[in-house]
Amino acid sequence: MKKIEAIIRPEAFQALREGLTSNGFNGLTVSEAAGCGKQKGKQGLFRGNTYEIALSPRVRVEMIVEDSETEEIIDLICEYCSTGNVGDGKIFISDIRDVIRIRSKERGKQAFI
Ligand SMILES: Nc1ncnc2c1ncn2[C@@H]1O[C@H](COP(=O)(O)OP(=O)(O)OP(=O)(O)O)[C@@H](O)[C@H]1O
Ligand SMILES: [Mg+2]
Repeated sequence: MKKIEAIIRPEAFQALREGLTSNGFNGLTVSEAAGCGKQKGKQGLFRGNTYEIALSPRVRVEMIVEDSETEEIIDLICEYCSTGNVGDGKIFISDIRDVIRIRSKERGKQAFI
């Protein structure tokens, strides 16, 4: 199992959600986030002085999936969340050791299908 953690533009979320659902991927966790990447935030200009707008609003989407589903979901995220401009976001993939459905104590793959 893998955790897919995508940091995306907030305005891309609705379309991504619909794309995931129509491809049969339902389980996810979403949270509001703020961050910066390589550009370290944007530079603002106020009365002749530059200042740092340090953090941009982003949405964090987390999904626990089977190994075999990972590449398809990465492709969907890139399809729905790419504008081609800087700031489109990042996807982080990590290994998940176990999943437990609280109601039934089912574990592993059984816990998220
Ligand atoms: N190394 C990182 N660790 C954690 N979060 C990150 C990292 N890089 C980017 N992020 C998150 O992703 C968001 C979008 O990053 P962004 O797309 O600007 O990355 P980038 O590396 O600067 O790529 P680009 O050059 O395309 O802008 C950031 O606001 C931040 O929340
Ligand atoms: Mg950037």
